Amino acid sequence: MPEEANSARVLFVCLGNICRSPTAQGVFESLAKQAGMANVQADSCGTGDWHVGSAPDSRTTDAAAARGYAIAHLRARQLQSHDFDRFDYILAMDKANLHDVQMMSPRGCRSHVGLFMDFARDRSPAEVPDPYYGGNKGFDQVLNLVEAASAGLILTLKARR
Ligand code: 4NP
Repeated sequence: MPEEANSARVLFVCLGNICRSPTAQGVFESLAKQAGMANVQADSCGTGDWHVGSAPDSRTTDAAAARGYAIAHLRARQLQSHDFDRFDYILAMDKANLHDVQMMSPRGCRSHVGLFMDFARDRSPAEVPDPYYGGNKGFDQVLNLVEAASAGLILTLKARR
């Protein structure tokens, strides 16, 4: 689907859609709203199907809530082939997620498919590490990285207009 002026549809992708990508969706939506970008739409999904229908992990919702982002209402879903027609940007949290997205990408896909962290303007790492099997610190680190990349993505989208 072609991009319309002043609009952007962004899909964030991780493995389970219960930690990183719902955080990215909530943070990006909140920062885009603060930046006055009314025509930006965001969604998130996982490459895997284990958590389809589940709310985000409680460690994720707690860490997000501590910074003022409300994401507990989100429900996990799996990446679908029609997502490539519906989103202008499909942004993966790590290189394994990106590989899985690329494997599903149809020939002639017009969406920008890439790593979310490529939009960060600071010296951030290339990937948002999976926090699922680690401690609480990992969830705070996800927020730090996602905030940096969201701010950069917003600058990119504004510059495009
Ligand atoms: P996410 O984290 O990809 O950031 O949602 C994970 C969630 C669940 C699992 C792995 C990563 N899991 O193996 O169930």
